[in-house]
Amino acid sequence: MRADPSPLFRSRVLFVSGKGGVGTSTVAAAVGRLSAALGRKTLVMEVDNQHPTLPVIFGHAAAYEPAEVEKNLSIANTTWSHALEDWVESIVSMRRLVRLIMKNRVVSLFLQVTPGARDLVMLWRVMELSRSYDQVIVDMPASGNAVAMLTVPLTAERLFPSGPIRRCAEELLAMYARPDTQLVLVALPEEMVVNETEETLARVLQGIPALRVPLLLLNRASIPSLSEGERTLLRKLEAAAPSGAAAEVLGAGAWEESLEAATGDALHRLGRVGRPVIALPALPRNEGARRITAQIASHLARTGGLRVDLRGGG
Ligand SMILES: Nc1ncnc2c1ncn2[C@@H]1O[C@H](COP(=O)(O)OP(=O)(O)OP(=O)(O)O)[C@@H](O)[C@H]1O
Ligand SMILES: [Mg+2]
Repeated sequence: MRADPSPLFRSRVLFVSGKGGVGTSTVAAAVGRLSAALGRKTLVMEVDNQHPTLPVIFGHAAAYEPAEVEKNLSIANTTWSHALEDWVESIVSMRRLVRLIMKNRVVSLFLQVTPGARDLVMLWRVMELSRSYDQVIVDMPASGNAVAMLTVPLTAERLFPSGPIRRCAEELLAMYARPDTQLVLVALPEEMVVNETEETLARVLQGIPALRVPLLLLNRASIPSLSEGERTLLRKLEAAAPSGAAAEVLGAGAWEESLEAATGDALHRLGRVGRPVIALPALPRNEGARRITAQIASHLARTGGLRVDLRGGG
């Protein structure tokens, strides 16, 4: 079955997460480039990242206010203190009053220590931005923190019977329930990462059942590149127990085969969770973040049978 990547660029709000370092920022940026190339007004945002990755990929600073970096494509790094100010302003709707409230040490301390307050205002900001864009792609923190963050509106709804936090939580839960709000998880062909992906998915399905998880992505997959002839040759070489250059070729071939086997295992295991899995190719690291992102975007376009011009930022 060929996996269909179109849910990625049909969503209005797309949360992207995965175990740390698996390539969530790359995937978020690649989907952003593809959506923008499809003519959708797109925003890719990081969540209060101290070391934001989007500037490395797009060669442009990412601040709280979105900045357009390519046609139809903006990036942002949503700092929670700004999001909090905006949220308070949306409630009291007077800038002067907002400053007074924010200056009040008791209030700001309360908001800083209230569990989940940060997460709630960040999600609120995502929701607000999604009114101005066709698609907002959120490069979420690593999976454990991402699930904790996404769970906050459910907790807030239980804890606050009324008031602005309650209303915010309700609006966010309504956003989760929309078919065009989705979460995708990025994995790697490594046992620990596959384990964590399975666990994360189970936690989401159990804790946030309204949120759709349409597909999984297997990044840095080794898509079979050895031909049958090459495999036969490897077997023959093995039988001859060679030394020197031939042994090196044999080693490289065995390495390639083991990577392909790891990809096969990961695809098999992830395939059992009842979601389509899209494999994204492992690319040479020295290509640089920008070109890697462009190639992942092109790969997604090909997988989806899309004809798009991705040269803009390649
Ligand atoms: N398919 C790929 N092939 C080769 N390199 C890749 C691939 N995907 C991502 N990378 C590279 O791996 C590194 C980590 O990617 P990225 O920053 O997207 O990961 P992340 O999951 O967002 O990490 P973090 O948890 O630190 O936020 C980057 O240098 C990126 O260019
Ligand atoms: Mg990242």
